[in-house]
Amino acid sequence: MFDTPAHLEQQTREQQAAARYCGLGFKKATLPSEVLQRLRQHLETNSRRFRAEEPIDYLVNPDPGKIPALYFEDKEFNATLSRELQGLHEEWAGRSLTESACYGIRVYQRGSFLYNHVDHTDTHIISSSICVDHRLDKPWPLYVEDIDGNPHQIDLDPGDILFYEGARLRHGRAYPLEGDYYASIFVHYRPANLWSSRLVGT
Ligand SMILES: [Fe+2]
Repeated sequence: MFDTPAHLEQQTREQQAAARYCGLGFKKATLPSEVLQRLRQHLETNSRRFRAEEPIDYLVNPDPGKIPALYFEDKEFNATLSRELQGLHEEWAGRSLTESACYGIRVYQRGSFLYNHVDHTDTHIISSSICVDHRLDKPWPLYVEDIDGNPHQIDLDPGDILFYEGARLRHGRAYPLEGDYYASIFVHYRPANLWSSRLVGT
């Protein structure tokens, strides 16, 4: 596993300290089959519209001639997906949630890796990483550190969804992707009462 560069490590520690923890950790589950079907069709239909993703400091391809990931975003599709999956996230979280963001589809390329990091503190509190498709030569698991710092490696295949507290738990894939690609989409929510609870200091 690649070590996170010092500046990212520092940033991760600061963000972690500021992030709330809901006591949920992470949980792997299966997406409803009709949702997976629509995601795969969306990926296939739009395959020619994917472009190199804007640089992200924790996403790297060590080959300077290669791009780390392709990206395509259809705001309407993503908004529908967020709404559709809100209930599943609320069920896992045991509370009402508000949509924060839906990101992707991102298609990681051969050789790419993700340094361990945490997600945006205020918005990516209850999140999920959904595997839409992959063509791998060997597994490329998501690494997640639980709240006690214990390491976990979770393989995600098409149709698998990993609920996780991304703002608080360090996660990444700090080893090169061996395969042709891995396609993901990410949805993020925050507790519905987050802002009001902060206002009253609870
Ligand atoms: Fe992340």
